[in-house]
Amino acid sequence: MDSKTVLTGIFGYPVGHSMSPLMHNAAFQALGLNYRYGAFSIPGHSLKSAVEGIRALGFRGVNVTIPHKVEVMEYLDEIDDEALQIGAVNTIVNENGKLIGYNTDGQGYVCSLLQEWETPLSGKKVVILGAGGAARAVAVSLARHGVKEMVIANRSVEKAQGLAEHVQNLVKASAISMEDLNRGKKLEVDLLINTTSVGMYPNIHNVPISLDLIHDGLMISDLIYNPLNTELLIKGKEVGAKTMNGLGMFIHQGSLAFELWTGMKPPVDLMKETVLKQLKNS
Ligand code: ATR
Repeated sequence: MDSKTVLTGIFGYPVGHSMSPLMHNAAFQALGLNYRYGAFSIPGHSLKSAVEGIRALGFRGVNVTIPHKVEVMEYLDEIDDEALQIGAVNTIVNENGKLIGYNTDGQGYVCSLLQEWETPLSGKKVVILGAGGAARAVAVSLARHGVKEMVIANRSVEKAQGLAEHVQNLVKASAISMEDLNRGKKLEVDLLINTTSVGMYPNIHNVPISLDLIHDGLMISDLIYNPLNTELLIKGKEVGAKTMNGLGMFIHQGSLAFELWTGMKPPVDLMKETVLKQLKNS
């Protein structure tokens, strides 16, 4: 670092396990950019002053993660359309003191899905498991990319109804409780997405849905990337379904943020290798 180093980073609470610093710093270094990315653990009561600090210290921008993605919107000067529709911001860009909020989670997901599924999204029917922040980003971006129909299944059905209503103006959407979904027959959809934390390390043997519902006609996508192969994906492969893990989404949301800050395309393969290496060592 020197007196010209451009600063970026991540605001969250906690951030000790974030792999974003490693991933972004590897990309900055590979492109010979004098940028650095730090991790900032910001408790809720400090969020407003931390955001003012972006301006005061002349940071180029930051990522924002749990639990600040919604509240941070109050402190920004402008919010991009997709972030507004999602109702959350995960990337801030400082344009000469003006702070603009973006959300690269949904687009990051769609980029990885298009790359790994190699199938157009228009006309597709989707089941989304979960109705939290990640589900919201994924649902809005899929709707913007022309999927035909969406069923949102959640443990607490009220949250699923809330999300279905939220995307209703973009796509045909309905809600169901996880219990009712599990009582039904095999899923007559093209794409099944798990956005819940069920199956994430350390509870790696849990599955978010009854395995009787899955079959070889599905693309099964899990947003989890630790472990890379969740029990849902392992069982999906066993029945002959196509599968993808959440690593691609993580890399692409980072890659889109990198582009917003630097105007350059980052080395995504290197970013992926860096994260994979870290996952194997952790
Ligand atoms: P994120 O930002 O990762 O989406 P979140 O907003 O806290 O996190 O949402 C977590 C989602 O995972 C929710 O849909 C939650 O279901 P509830 O709304 O019913 O709480 C779901 N989830 C978490 N743990 C779960 C579990 N053990 N079984 C079923 N669903 C679970």
